[in-house]
Parts: sequence; structure tokens; C-alpha cells
Amino acid sequence: MRLIIILLAISSVYAENCSIFDGEKYSKRSILTIKGLPTNLVVNPNNKDLLFTLIDIESLQSDDVQTKMDQYIFRQGEPIKVDNVNGQAAAVDAENNMVYIATDDGLSVLNKTNKANFIGFKGDDITQLFKPPSNNKLYAVVYPDSEVYAIDLVTNEKNKVENVPCAFILAVDKKENIFYECESKYIKMLLKGFQEAIEFVGIPKNSARAIAIDPHGRVILAANDGLYWLRPDSLIPRKLMDLDFVPSGIAFYDDSILLSTSGVIYEFSGNCKN
Ligand SMILES: *[C@@H]1O[C@H](CO)[C@@H](O)[C@H](O)[C@H]1NC(C)=O
Ligand SMILES: *[C@@H]1O[C@H](CO)[C@@H](O)[C@H](O)[C@H]1NC(C)=O
Repeated sequence: MRLIIILLAISSVYAENCSIFDGEKYSKRSILTIKGLPTNLVVNPNNKDLLFTLIDIESLQSDDVQTKMDQYIFRQGEPIKVDNVNGQAAAVDAENNMVYIATDDGLSVLNKTNKANFIGFKGDDITQLFKPPSNNKLYAVVYPDSEVYAIDLVTNEKNKVENVPCAFILAVDKKENIFYECESKYIKMLLKGFQEAIEFVGIPKNSARAIAIDPHGRVILAANDGLYWLRPDSLIPRKLMDLDFVPSGIAFYDDSILLSTSGVIYEFSGNCKN
């Protein structure tokens, strides 16, 4: 009897605790531990590279110094720093196998030797990038006013996106509805063709952390307490997952969800048995 109790105790310590995402069981493992805050996660599906920006937490907490950050590529288990620019975010054009890097002095593309090669918009301090899979546009957020611009990748023209006053995080779905959060407020969407953005309900102010599009084309928000599906036809997001850590980045790849928080990037994959 005692032996059984001991065995039960041991197995409960080692038992995987499945996480639930959208009703399915996922197991969680850490794929990278690194000093700093990994944000702006995005995967290049062509080679499985995970791109992320690493923020120096001490510089983030100090008002006197500019926030320090570096652009990284996580490839085959190793983080590689893109060391020839001040990288601030990345976006992947999967169809054309191009990786764009936002820098504090314009837009670059990643070359074969993991360096950033300048392509344009000199003088622009670009803090965010988003590439929707379905059109030839790249969305860029420019410091200090965090205005959003759409860059046409064929003509290289840059146009301000009207009716989105600013964005700290953003995603654009395949119908060109824009989901964003600006100035630590509520999360909003500007539907294609509309003049006025609409605010989602139920998500506390200043709790949106990152947005990504999942493999089903759904817009997924990572907020302080979990993951929410933001739908263009409902103001009430659907909660898909509870989290016990505050996320700083989110990306999807195949059946996996990648989530970062201070000092670590986790992979949640759909093979949890318990
Ligand atoms: C699973 O959860 C139990 C109860 O909260 C805990 O004691 C155990 O350490 C957890 N196991 C793992 C692998 O996290
Ligand atoms: C990549 O860019 C770096 C820096 O501009 C340059 O030195 C290097 O030759 C480039 N590599 C390739 C393969 O183009």
C-alpha cells in the first residue's frame, strides 16, 4: 500500500500537465532560455527559422536610457544575432522567401549569411512589422508617433494607413481587417472599408501583449491571462487558452504554438497524453 502511494506521488510529480488550447491538449517545453525579454516572434515556414527581438530588461526599466534590443534568428536550437543593424522586429514573406528586418534606420532584408541588407526608408525608426500572407503589403509602425504604414512590396510605395491612429502591436487578416492596440489601451479592429475602429470587450486595458495569425487564419491575441481569438464578426473575443505567465510574443508553426516570456521561449505542441 505504501509503495503504491509513493509511486503515485512520484508519477504525479513527473506527470506532464497538459495545457488546453481551443479544447485540445498541448504539452509545454522550453526551447530556449536566454537573458532578456524575447518579443516579436515569427517563424519562416520555409526553413523553420524562428525570428525574435530580444529586449534588454534593465534598459526597458530605466527611463534614462533608450531601450536596447537585438534581432535574433533561432535556428536548429541555436540563437544567432543579426549583428550589423539595430534590429527591432521581423516579418516573413513566405511566398517569396524573404525576411524583412525593421531597424532604427529603415528597412532591411536578411541575407544568406544572416546579415541585414538595407533596402529602403532610410531615417524611419521602424518598431513593428507585419506581413499578411494574402497580399503584397508589409505593414510597418514608425516611431515616435507609432503611425502605421502599408508598404507595397511591388512598387515600394509607402502609404499611411488611415483611421488607425497608432499601433504598438498589430495583425492584418486575409480580408485586410486590421487588429491593433495602441498606447496601452484596449484592443481594436478596423474592418476593411470602415472609417472607425471598434473596441473589443472583456479584455482589460493594457493587457494585450502580442498578436499573430494561426494556421487557420484566425487572429490570436496573447494577453496577460491567456490567448483569445479575435473575430471580425464579434466584439466578444473567444478565450482559447489560460496562461500562468505573462506572454511577450506569440507565433504559430504547423501544430505548435510558440510563446515567449521573460528569459524563455516555450513551444506548446499537440501531443500531450494526460
Ligand atoms: C503537474 O502539476 C502538479 C500539481 O500542480 C505538480 O505538483 C507537478 O509538479 C506538475 N508537473 C510538472 C511536470 O510540471
Ligand atoms: C550579406 O551581407 C553582408 C553585410 O552587408 C555582406 O558582407 C555579405 O557579403 C552578404 N552575404 C551574401 C551571401 O550576400
